[in-house]
Amino acid sequence: MTERNPRPIAPPEGKLGVLLVGLGAVATTFIAGVELIRRGMAKPIGSLAEMGTIRLGKRTEGRVPKIREFVPLAALNDLEFGAWDPIPDDGYRSAQVAGVLEQRHLEPIADFLKAIVPMPAVFDRRYVKRLQGSNVKSGKNKRELAEQLREDIRAFKERRGCDRLVMIWCASTEVFIAPSEVHASLAAFERGMEENDDGIAPSMLYAWASLMEGVPFANGAPNLTVDTPALQELALEREVPIAGKDFKTGQTLVKTVIAPMLKARMLGLSGWYSTNILGNRDGEVLDDPESFKTKEESKLGVLEHILQPELYPDLYGNVYHKVRINYYPPRGDNKEGWDNIDIFGWLGYPMQIKIDFLCRDSILAAPLVLDLALFLDLAQRARLPGIQEWLSFYFKSPMAAPQLKPEHDLFIQHTKLKNTLRWLMGEEQITHLGVEYYEYEKV
Ligand SMILES: NC(=O)c1ccc[n+]([C@@H]2O[C@H](COP(=O)([O-])OP(=O)(O)OC[C@H]3O[C@@H](n4cnc5c(N)ncnc54)[C@H](O)[C@@H]3O)[C@@H](O)[C@H]2O)c1
Repeated sequence: MTERNPRPIAPPEGKLGVLLVGLGAVATTFIAGVELIRRGMAKPIGSLAEMGTIRLGKRTEGRVPKIREFVPLAALNDLEFGAWDPIPDDGYRSAQVAGVLEQRHLEPIADFLKAIVPMPAVFDRRYVKRLQGSNVKSGKNKRELAEQLREDIRAFKERRGCDRLVMIWCASTEVFIAPSEVHASLAAFERGMEENDDGIAPSMLYAWASLMEGVPFANGAPNLTVDTPALQELALEREVPIAGKDFKTGQTLVKTVIAPMLKARMLGLSGWYSTNILGNRDGEVLDDPESFKTKEESKLGVLEHILQPELYPDLYGNVYHKVRINYYPPRGDNKEGWDNIDIFGWLGYPMQIKIDFLCRDSILAAPLVLDLALFLDLAQRARLPGIQEWLSFYFKSPMAAPQLKPEHDLFIQHTKLKNTLRWLMGEEQITHLGVEYYEYEKV
């Protein structure tokens, strides 16, 4: 049975510009991957938007279209890429430095990648201590720098003939910033930009510029960025979608699958020790304790939200949770993440789970960037401004309305995403109840 009210969605006509803040490992792996897919040299593995299907109606109806055929998404051929980075390397050089993709993937698209030259960044070493770059803007205050970003956005749109844009933060993790007065309202934030308030990090200037230009913004790092009342106010005022934060790719992805399993079976947890070795530039930046603190906060919140110790004190009231990231250059982008999980069962008997995830960070993150670009553009055309909770699926620290706890369980997030697509298209929600398939006596 079809619900009658699909939401009006503007068609994805013309080109969609994807503006990436940061042209490092994730960004170049994403861009190169899309180009290889467009040339028929690879499949979009890891992208729900491209490879996923969605069941519609009853299980007996057999309606299971691909998501891409069900909702009006921008075509991959219509994507245009732009980026900012304080390091002036073009896309090809940067991908080589990142060392994620092999020459057999980079060489055929070398010219394409070389044409992606980063625009000068708004960058300040006080916010990312382990980096240095020469491709940097200057201006008399933060407001002026943000205005320069707005000009970049307009010029890119014009130059590439784009109809619509989205912006995704794929840049380094900034130092930890606690929310303060300057983030409490848009007026305070804009005053703070004029006064060069230290609470305003470069990522916030990109986000402000993006929203001012009506461009949806997603935050792939754990920085505060759009997670403030000031920028959420701006997103609503300008009617622009926002999403964040911190791509959920490796260890946390696994954590948000295992923890709901423990809770579903009412198994207790006494400790969860997670450690990683990582040798890329991201690992180097996170070696700085202030940037690591930002990441740590993002990784630690997950268990508490899923396990709800306030509801289950006997099972989760005394959990020791530790997360470490160790910079270890020989591994490059190929991260190894270990989890030691101490659990307990019937009569309190202890058991252990050990996980050793030998993953590739940017290989896991790239399809998320693609999905976020496509879905944020969809949200914009469907006129859904502000926080996109249905995109929680992609984030370690998902944004939610202030009165709500964020949802961390991967499969609830997955259901939420698909139900949002059904809702957009006027299709029935899937509850998984299924009583209609059985003959129960009417009461
Ligand atoms: N790969 C993953 O699985 C994953 C998961 C979650 C979050 N992230 C986050 O995604 C981000 C990118 O990761 P990566 O591996 O590509 O890192 P990277 O170091 O390879 O690339 C980041 C790039 O951002 C640039 N940069 C820093 N500050 C900037 C600024 N103010 N403006 C423009 N550019 C700036 C750097 O010069 C660098 O080239 C990091 O913050 C990382 O923590 C990655």
